[in-house]
Amino acid sequence: MKILAVETSCDETAIAVAEFGDGRGHTRTHPSRTDADKAVRVNVWSHIVSSQATLHAKFGGVVPNLAKREHQKNLVTILREVLRGSRIKDQESRKKKGQIRSLDSKSLILNAILEREPELFSRFKKRALSLPAPDIDAIAVTYGPGLAPALWVGINFARALACLWDKPLIPVNHMAGHIYSAWLRQGGEIRIPKSEIRGKSQIQNYEIPSMRFPLLALLVSGGHTELVLMRGHGKFEIIGETRDDAAGEAFDKVARILGLGYPGGPEISRLAERGDPRKYPLPSPMINTKDHNFSFSGLKTAVVYLVRDSVPIVDRHRKADIAASFQKAAVDVLVKKTVRAAKEHGSKTILLGGGVAANAALRRELSATLKKEMPDAMLFTPDLSLTGDNALMIAAAAYFSKKKMAWSDALQADANLRL
Ligand code: KG4
Ligand code: ZN
Repeated sequence: MKILAVETSCDETAIAVAEFGDGRGHTRTHPSRTDADKAVRVNVWSHIVSSQATLHAKFGGVVPNLAKREHQKNLVTILREVLRGSRIKDQESRKKKGQIRSLDSKSLILNAILEREPELFSRFKKRALSLPAPDIDAIAVTYGPGLAPALWVGINFARALACLWDKPLIPVNHMAGHIYSAWLRQGGEIRIPKSEIRGKSQIQNYEIPSMRFPLLALLVSGGHTELVLMRGHGKFEIIGETRDDAAGEAFDKVARILGLGYPGGPEISRLAERGDPRKYPLPSPMINTKDHNFSFSGLKTAVVYLVRDSVPIVDRHRKADIAASFQKAAVDVLVKKTVRAAKEHGSKTILLGGGVAANAALRRELSATLKKEMPDAMLFTPDLSLTGDNALMIAAAAYFSKKKMAWSDALQADANLRL
């Protein structure tokens, strides 16, 4: 099954084309229930992420309407790049002729789908309409959670492509994408007949190994901190979440307090590697509560007071110590509550996903604590190239989803969509 996936939930514009099949070289049309414990091979034909981070950095955070405008500007260019890079063969020329004939009848519909995205529509007419339909089976798109204006651009774009090329749509929850990002392992084999590839292709291989449910996923991003129990594909239960700030948000806010750049997570983790995590004992809120919830705003406030009361003024060394102490307090609570939840729910497989999954201290501590306290548990963390928002994880989540729909069915952006 070949999927073209579109992700625009925040400040990354991303498109991927990936093919999913079983390890024996047959391309399956769709996984059945019993396939949950079989490995799936993933051949990534092409996958591009275009980040707007430097643009939003000036404002100290993501500006929704600016993100929307950038997605409108970027999508068609990235699509053309992805299709060129993927060298996926076009649908048969017979169908192509039919497609050109039917374009006239579709222009009114495309107009209606893209009328809210004028900039995208004008680029679509100039540079996407004439593209030959690629040989793909479905188009996946993130429809939430995220910034509504940004989500809408991706949804409308994906609907327009589905209409243009007569393909089904698969709506994907962004957080499910982050779960599957941890599941994608590099390696595995390429099993694509040469006849399906035009020219030279740089296909990357991944594999989704078999795993035993229930799985426990710790999702830590800029907008979410969740512990998700997964009893099967599409069977998610949020067993704990943050009461206030998300983990990534706390990293970003503390970075701002320390006068570091945006996004703050990578800056804090870089600085923290040089600091002393035991220098300032900061609170790990809710670390001992019996539930699986989190809270980070108290920790952030403690950093505010620490910086305010610091004499002499906060210098570079002190900043590194504060960053390291903050990171330790945040990581301690994330690790402790994840391991406790895994034990309580008998989950021997733990997945880590979301932007904060790039944090080296979090990976290190989670791995070390699991080894000590649950030696038979397995931890899966995403490739560093897949911790941030990307469309490959959306394609993977789409492959296991049962939510196929037509472009003409109603699909709304849902900024607060839950798993
Ligand atoms: O998943 P993501 O790319 O976007 C959302 O869906 O929110 O997550 C972005 C978040 C930001 O808050 C960023 O500061 C944080 O992930 N982040 C990190 C690191 N890299 C990114 N936080 C801690 N350590 C990192 N190395
Ligand atoms: Zn994300």
